[in-house]
Amino acid sequence: MDFGAAHVTQMALGAWQAQVLYTLTELGIFELLAEKPLPAQEVARRSGTHPLAAEGLLNAGVALKLLAKDGEEYADTDLALRLLCEESPESLARWVRVMGRWSRPWNDLAEVVRTGQPAEGREARLWQDPRYVADFVLGMHEYARRIADEVAEHVDLPAGARVTDVGGGAGTYAIALCRRHPDVTVRILELASVVPLAESTVAEAGLADRIAVAPGDYLADPFGAGVSAVLLSNVLHQESREAGESIVARAHRALRAGGKVVVNGYFLDETRTRPSFTTLHNLSAFTLWGGGRSYTVGEAARLLQDAGFTEPVVHQVAQGASTVLVAQKGADGQPSADRGE
Ligand SMILES: C[S@@+](CC[C@H](N)C(=O)[O-])C[C@H]1O[C@@H](n2cnc3c(N)ncnc32)[C@H](O)[C@@H]1O
Repeated sequence: MDFGAAHVTQMALGAWQAQVLYTLTELGIFELLAEKPLPAQEVARRSGTHPLAAEGLLNAGVALKLLAKDGEEYADTDLALRLLCEESPESLARWVRVMGRWSRPWNDLAEVVRTGQPAEGREARLWQDPRYVADFVLGMHEYARRIADEVAEHVDLPAGARVTDVGGGAGTYAIALCRRHPDVTVRILELASVVPLAESTVAEAGLADRIAVAPGDYLADPFGAGVSAVLLSNVLHQESREAGESIVARAHRALRAGGKVVVNGYFLDETRTRPSFTTLHNLSAFTLWGGGRSYTVGEAARLLQDAGFTEPVVHQVAQGASTVLVAQKGADGQPSADRGE
């Protein structure tokens, strides 16, 4: 097969491979086989699935190197034990489950593009399904904890700084900031349904005395007063331009003179066609909830400067996968050159 045909075929079949991963995760089969290797009949009995269909799924799992087969018994590969079992410290299992859930609205992409309407309602976005909330928020944590320390390295803060983490999710970045700066305190502003999840992650990290989690709406609520930094991590891309302007304006208002706004996220290059992950992330936000529009670094910089911030300093993290913009509120509340802290 020539390269072009192989490339198209691989993309066309990619969804099949993803569905095997999602289904093994959704049915808890990685967890089941983590206990001990089992034959297909026994996997089917314990997971309440159809024996022949379960065997087909297990065989595909072996072909995709997620499972191994020895005689009649199936087992997790090392990769599955490390990344696909929820209790593993390196787990991505919840994140994979969220991708599985999102594959349903993604399946309606043609209709989304025809109508310009998202495939999921605002209610779904507001996390009324507790399992979805937990998988989404803790899944983001599984993903983000891999790069959070690197992001925190680019955030210099003065002693005793107070930080607001807007839409802070499970507290991944708040935790990383507190680990980097032993005397900093953070207030996470999150949807009420997310607050208990963030509180438990923060408590597990032993930082409950330094990180508070407050219920609130980042589309309307203030972000504090006289704070040293406002963190906007993976928030702006999912909102409209107007909401982004309002969020950045309230960040400016909340900061003390010389305070910093830190924007972390995935940005498009000036052609808006690269990197490929960000083009898909952009499409995903639209498909799921008609979300905003991914910014280029230049657009985000202008958004910040229009709100009165200095020109941001830009840092690439995670080998360029994520980008951190750090801009300052001037000493008199006006833009000024970055003076450090
Ligand atoms: C893509 S996640 C980013 C989480 C975290 N900051 C990170 O970078 O991993 C966006 C977060 O915004 C929160 N969120 C969405 N709408 C919100 C609102 N109106 N007010 C407060 N938080 C909101 C969600 O619950 C979610 O945790």
